[in-house]
Amino acid sequence: MAKTDNKTSVPKRRANNGKLSFGGKWQYAKAPESTDHVAIEDRYGLFIGGAWVRPKSGKYFATINPATEKKIAEVAQANKKDVDAAVQAAKKALPAWRKLSGDDRARFLFRIARILQERAREFAVLETLDNGKPIKETRDVDVPLAAQHFFYHAGWADKLELLFPGEKPEPVGVVGQIIPWNFPLLMAAWKIAPALAAGNTVVIKPAETSPLTALRLCEVFEQAELPAGVVNVVTGDGSTGAALVRHPDLNKVAFTGSTEVGKEIQKAVAGRSVDLTLELGGKAAHLVFEDAALDQAVEGVVRGIFFNQGHVCCAGSRLIVQESVHDLFVRKLQRRMARIRVGDPLDKNTDMGAIHSSEQLMRIRGLVQSGVDEGAVLFQPKCALPKNGFWFVPSMFTGVTQSHRISREEIFGPVLSVSTFRTPEEAVKKANDTSYGLSAGIWTDKGARILWVASRIRAGIVWNNTFNLFDAASPFGGYQESGFGREGGRQGLRAYVKLRSGLLPG
Ligand code: NAI
Ligand code: MG
Repeated sequence: MAKTDNKTSVPKRRANNGKLSFGGKWQYAKAPESTDHVAIEDRYGLFIGGAWVRPKSGKYFATINPATEKKIAEVAQANKKDVDAAVQAAKKALPAWRKLSGDDRARFLFRIARILQERAREFAVLETLDNGKPIKETRDVDVPLAAQHFFYHAGWADKLELLFPGEKPEPVGVVGQIIPWNFPLLMAAWKIAPALAAGNTVVIKPAETSPLTALRLCEVFEQAELPAGVVNVVTGDGSTGAALVRHPDLNKVAFTGSTEVGKEIQKAVAGRSVDLTLELGGKAAHLVFEDAALDQAVEGVVRGIFFNQGHVCCAGSRLIVQESVHDLFVRKLQRRMARIRVGDPLDKNTDMGAIHSSEQLMRIRGLVQSGVDEGAVLFQPKCALPKNGFWFVPSMFTGVTQSHRISREEIFGPVLSVSTFRTPEEAVKKANDTSYGLSAGIWTDKGARILWVASRIRAGIVWNNTFNLFDAASPFGGYQESGFGREGGRQGLRAYVKLRSGLLPG
């Protein structure tokens, strides 16, 4: 029997709506500060057409807790036939769903948002177990923001015509969505909420290493009595994703993940009548001017790179600090980094949890080694790491040049690279010297400088005197190799509608 890292184990009890009777036993994982239990099945099927079904492939694979390396549960490996069944279910559900009034669709979305709030603790614990990120973050960021996305888009569902005046917004149709492992629940909410608000139906594929909260979201859909087939979840690896984007009956594909896979998907949809949005990697510049409130800037830089173990596409991974305050700022950062608590993600005092997978840990180690080999200076505070699981010490490189690999490639881990600038012009030039363009940050006391710099930086989002702050109303997306299309806000909804002239009949 699969076991979690929990102490309590109460078998043979059915809890909530996750109906899947494979004869498996229930397991209970307990967060130290909580008295609530999270029921986890041994095995999960696929959620297709409103029902939990066994995969036609007959295959399952394990998802593990990265903080302990212990297996949490098994999930289904969907093959081409499973993907086809999911797409057919979404297609079948489309006519009735798109015909509902915006008002009625809003009602479902509000319901989903409220249930998510009610079950917030359960989702936070499950996300922390499956992903490795600290409970502080799942509790305060991931889950509340996921609910916010459903609330926000519920608000637009009956007002789409106000968004696109003079035009008639119509759903795109059946949408295939592929999401990564760094914000599993939040990315599901980002993608599903606007799609449903606009009257589309969905087949979504979570990342293979973090599928449990997307599956649990299906229980919320059941509880909200969302009509069957409106959202279908197929679990599996890249081959499942590849089968999904190649399915001939899709009308749109939305992807978040690596630039490499984004390019593959672009090729897969080329020449077909399929809309595409891509949210890919990043290498954000975080600029600190000498007149900034330096202690606050230190907090912003720490949040920018060590939040979610640095597994963040918009992470502020390139600190570019004005030369006059470089030494002082680096000393402050070193002192602050020594206070970051790395360890048990379920402990509410933990600041940094586990690296999500052994694969990602290898990638981080490789890039850090390249930084050392290329001559940058590595700082790592003393930090005791747990024996089992995947861990990496908060790290900072100084003496980094624009040509170093650590300055050009996305590390996607808790590794900051520091370089300097003298003038605002040079700061902008360095910030823009990247193949990406997802986000950036500016710390300065001067409002005019913020505007001057922000208007010259080619990035989808530019934070001023803050970093890694998210809101459903604010569009998120990139330039260049960071992808195209926006998620969130009015711009995000644009990707989920087709516009016809309002003068046309019908
Ligand atoms: P990935 O891009 O391979 O995985 C993202 C999603 O795409 C997963 O659901 C995966 O199953 C799916 N996928 C993989 N191959 C596919 C294909 N051929 N067709 C359709 N779907 C496919 O990312 P991976 O390998 O987990 O991470 C590699 C690197 O990518 C990371 O080190 C990081 O630098 C970057 N990354 C960026 C993310 C972002 O938010 N922009 C998220 C995850 C990774
Ligand atoms: Mg991959």
